[in-house]
Amino acid sequence: MTKQTAILGAGVMGETLLSGLVRAGRRVDDLLVGEKREARARELEERYGVAVVTNVEAAEKADTLALVVKPQDMADLLAEISPVLRPGQLLVSLAAGITTGFIESQVPDGVAVVRVMPNTPALVDEGMAAIAPGKHCDDAHLAEAESLMGSTGRVLRIPEKQMDAVTAISGSGPAYIFYVVESMIEAGVHLGLPRATATELVVQTLIGSGKMLRETGTHPAILREQVTSPGGTTAAALRSLEDHKVRAAFLSAMEAARDRSRELAEGS
Ligand SMILES: NC(=O)c1ccc[n+]([C@@H]2O[C@H](COP(=O)([O-])OP(=O)(O)OC[C@H]3O[C@@H](n4cnc5c(N)ncnc54)[C@H](OP(=O)(O)O)[C@@H]3O)[C@@H](O)[C@H]2O)c1
Repeated sequence: MTKQTAILGAGVMGETLLSGLVRAGRRVDDLLVGEKREARARELEERYGVAVVTNVEAAEKADTLALVVKPQDMADLLAEISPVLRPGQLLVSLAAGITTGFIESQVPDGVAVVRVMPNTPALVDEGMAAIAPGKHCDDAHLAEAESLMGSTGRVLRIPEKQMDAVTAISGSGPAYIFYVVESMIEAGVHLGLPRATATELVVQTLIGSGKMLRETGTHPAILREQVTSPGGTTAAALRSLEDHKVRAAFLSAMEAARDRSRELAEGS
């Protein structure tokens, strides 16, 4: 029998994972969904042809369970499925701030747990997910979590102690990039460009720069120097960014996100 994977909580992230798995070639017959809202369950059945079952049935049948509920719903979900979980099964949690230790304390001993920090570009198969193993996790469990998250983008294995920093960088990261893009579009409008022109210029510049970073593997400082001729336009702009301490502002922003992630994890 092939291995079954269940997704419990099919909201935005749960559906992203489900559609990624289907596009990556997982057989719909090997997938199960646990979703408490009846209308949402019918919608997913119609859209993907996937079986929507109770959480308990999913936990009984599946070898791997992706837990994709909001952090505040995690304790209730674990209380519901814990009685039918068995050692060797894998729980892959996408909930921000919920530690593997917390999940392990709520389920039978020997159930493997992997904690994931995804990000929203997973919606377009360009996600960046960091995965950290819990104490009963072997290499096969980590490989399974990697394959699960690999259906919506890249995956990096990290020790769990790095999770707050990862949350600050790639979890919240898309928001910083959108903020920069928004600011550059506004600047274009101030310089007299039509909004649509400014938007196209900025978005393509972002995608082109991202592709250059990935495909050349060159350090961003070197790529930046290549655009910066002495005494030129780019040098003038960079000088202004330094005057406004933008680099220091990024550092403080990400420290703030790391600290907030730590606080939320401690409070949960
Ligand atoms: N790093 C990131 O950028 C990022 C992005 C997205 C998500 N995440 C993580 O992914 C998780 C899900 O987020 P989301 O945005 O997808 O939330 P969401 O859209 O609210 O989805 C959660 C879904 O789970 C359902 N649910 C709640 N309790 C359940 C239960 N006991 N059994 C089955 N289904 C249940 C909810 O139904 P109701 O609406 O009826 O409660 C909802 O449909 C969160 O824990 C979040 O931290 C991280």
